[in-house]
Amino acid sequence: MATKATAPGKVILCGEHAVVYGQPAIALPLQDVRATATIEDRPAGTGLAIQTPDIGEQGHGPAPTPHPFAALIGLTLAHLGRSTSVDIAVTLRSAIPIASGMGSGAALGAALVKALAHHFGAGIAPAEVSRLVYESERVFHGTPSGIDNTVVSYEQAIWFMRGRTDEAAPTFEPLVIKEPFTLLIADTGVRAPTHLSVGRVREQWLQAPEHFNRYFADIGALAAEVRALLATGNAQRLGAALDRNQVLLRQLGVSSPELERLIAAARATGAFGAKLSGAGAGGIMLALVDTASCAAVARALQEAGAQRIVQTTVGQHNVLF
Ligand code: MEV
Repeated sequence: MATKATAPGKVILCGEHAVVYGQPAIALPLQDVRATATIEDRPAGTGLAIQTPDIGEQGHGPAPTPHPFAALIGLTLAHLGRSTSVDIAVTLRSAIPIASGMGSGAALGAALVKALAHHFGAGIAPAEVSRLVYESERVFHGTPSGIDNTVVSYEQAIWFMRGRTDEAAPTFEPLVIKEPFTLLIADTGVRAPTHLSVGRVREQWLQAPEHFNRYFADIGALAAEVRALLATGNAQRLGAALDRNQVLLRQLGVSSPELERLIAAARATGAFGAKLSGAGAGGIMLALVDTASCAAVARALQEAGAQRIVQTTVGQHNVLF
């Protein structure tokens, strides 16, 4: 019998990179852009098989050996109190573009953990899903803040701060959003693995810690401002805060010509504000729009080279173009 579970993609509204250094950040789930894990039993003695057809399809070639998700399967089985010698076929599929900034890795991980738990007849709370995915993300990313695994496991808009050490629990809260707001999320099509961008920022921070700590503190202050604006509702001021976040991200060196082109196109056609989202150096950007500007901004993004665009109204479901 097959068991299926899904998890959403995510966007970071504000605070990426600085969140790795202890500053607050805001992340939103993308409910309609999801990863799916399917588990099926195999004949006794045939062991574990993992298939990730979408990862191959998106130009990353065959999965390396051992498979990156094998460690997470081992961790989850241990958590469930089961032997790690299992006879199952795991299929991981994702509508979330890989290495785009939409949290594909964390979503695949969360879907996998939930599917395994359900397959073996166990319940699993979002906190446990998040913790297990974080453990495995540490293998890939080195110093993940934990924001991606948290938002895709809880499936809620969150205000997030990492723990003081990798072992310490993060603090996070659901966001209060007074008025729903609409984002267009555009993919540059340039694949940019998170660990490379995070690693480059770390190298620069090590060379000029005081300088970079100031950028991070400014980004943290903006995240607090964005949180307050979401609670009171003011799209103009929210857009301006997102623009200022983009200036700081550019100063961190994580923007790219493709991102800048999309951001400029969105602003020129009436977006309240626009910035890159996630690790940068490619990947995705987001633009804050209203019903009057949405169609024109989407068209301009397409003309400026967006590979695909997701529209999401926070507080409601998102729509895939
Ligand atoms: C990636 O979605 C966000 C970064 O801040 C990395 C992290 O928080 O682990 C760039």
